[in-house]
Amino acid sequence: MHVLVTGGAGFIGSHLCDRLVQRGDKVWCVDNLYLGQRRNIAHLEANPAFRFIEGDVLDRPVLEALFADGRFEAVFHLAANSDIAAGNADAELDLRLNQLTTLEVLEAMRRHGVKRLFFASTSAIFGEASGDLHEDFGPLQPISFYGASKLGAEGYTSVYANQHAIRTVILRFPNVIGERSTHGVIFDFLRKLKANPNELEVLGDGNQQKPYLYVGDLVDAILVAWDKADAPFSVFHASGIDSTSVREIAEIVVAAAGRPDTRLRFTGGDRGWPGDVPKFSYDISRLKALGWQPRRHSTDAVRFAVERILANGF
Ligand SMILES: NC(=O)c1ccc[n+]([C@@H]2O[C@H](COP(=O)([O-])OP(=O)(O)OC[C@H]3O[C@@H](n4cnc5c(N)ncnc54)[C@H](O)[C@@H]3O)[C@@H](O)[C@H]2O)c1
Repeated sequence: MHVLVTGGAGFIGSHLCDRLVQRGDKVWCVDNLYLGQRRNIAHLEANPAFRFIEGDVLDRPVLEALFADGRFEAVFHLAANSDIAAGNADAELDLRLNQLTTLEVLEAMRRHGVKRLFFASTSAIFGEASGDLHEDFGPLQPISFYGASKLGAEGYTSVYANQHAIRTVILRFPNVIGERSTHGVIFDFLRKLKANPNELEVLGDGNQQKPYLYVGDLVDAILVAWDKADAPFSVFHASGIDSTSVREIAEIVVAAAGRPDTRLRFTGGDRGWPGDVPKFSYDISRLKALGWQPRRHSTDAVRFAVERILANGF
């Protein structure tokens, strides 16, 4: 297929571009490098099956020219603000980068008759709901601007699926980790440790407990959902097995960085920042029924991701 990946120079998008090219798709990647990095896709740039376009999907003339040129058969829409805490400083950030980018992409798809969409959503739409959350759980009460904007964006994809027959697959990612990440707990710990190897500040009390999934396993989940979903509008959850506490992650990071004596300093409270959801868990049986299995326990995924990030030269 000829596909467009928005946000394809980002952490997850670049891994998805790798895999799509490997399996024989022709991939165009658009990214404004807001958080993405050219070096994430540098190894693909000589490949004739791949093309990078530096551009903002909110820039309508740019998007229009891209769709006219590309004649895509499908779009994987990952462009977003992925830094949840950053949304607290600017309440419109997530509205623009998560919700409006989705509307612009959907409108371009409608204008150009592109009929297949993958949308990257998130557990943040559930707020503090407890239990093993299945895809049809409600009511949805996000507690971050990020979660609210992704929920709104899911709503737009539903409208376009219904009114314009855009076949849509949504995967609500858990916490995704691995090399090329631009943010998130492991990235944050490694950055802080570099600045001060003697003490590591841990946001919250360290008891936040979430499922982590290695990026390669997430890309497997995206492609299983994409290839096998048979409804016009499908929603899936994916996560690693079980969950890992922030304290465990801090201990793994200091050990892997060769600094086992680093003092951990907890800032206290049950969460890292306003809008952070301290605990969540997914029911992943729907995606499992299509043949996807998480390969690793969440904590093994954390160890593996830390190794890969360090090997990649943090
Ligand atoms: N990493 C996670 O744990 C996680 C969890 C749940 C959902 N997600 C979602 O997965 C997707 C990818 O996230 P990621 O972790 O790779 O983050 P990322 O920040 O590395 O990737 C997002 C990319 O979108 C690009 N972008 C932002 N605004 C743009 C615009 N207007 N035009 C063009 N490009 C733009 C950024 O430059 C960046 O490269 C996002 O939609 C994110 O919300 C990520």
